[in-house]
Amino acid sequence: MTAEDLVYQAIEAREMSYSPYSKFAVGAALLTKNDEVYLGTNIENAAFGLSMCAERNALYNAYCHGISQEDIEAIAIVADTELPVSPCGSCRQVLSELFPKSGKIYLANMHGDIKETTIDELLPYSFDSDDL
Ligand code: THU
Repeated sequence: MTAEDLVYQAIEAREMSYSPYSKFAVGAALLTKNDEVYLGTNIENAAFGLSMCAERNALYNAYCHGISQEDIEAIAIVADTELPVSPCGSCRQVLSELFPKSGKIYLANMHGDIKETTIDELLPYSFDSDDL
């Protein structure tokens, strides 16, 4: 599957966003090595701290279906931003534990811009279980 195809699936997931407070809809699509796709979108709550980001929902969705790090190929994340969307710090931390170092991360916007990166680029010198 191409990066563009995965971003297209993330755009479809974004349609399901529940974001009445920020009005900032985000979509994510996680691709496995078996070509399965798990979607996620941001889901907000009136108690703001309970809101969950799109990419974490996609990752947790995959894990809920028995997928683990070694099964994962890529994730695409998309929002209506000028530049490709920048994942928040909490998502970077979660990705650093659950997403493979070799996995491709496609950051995208609604204008067709796609930036390919990795979790090590997004979160260098991360905190992990070795630090405990
Ligand atoms: N959001 C995401 O879904 N992913 C990110 O990486 C950035 C932020 C969501 C959280 C909240 O629902 C809205 O965007 C505004 O912060």
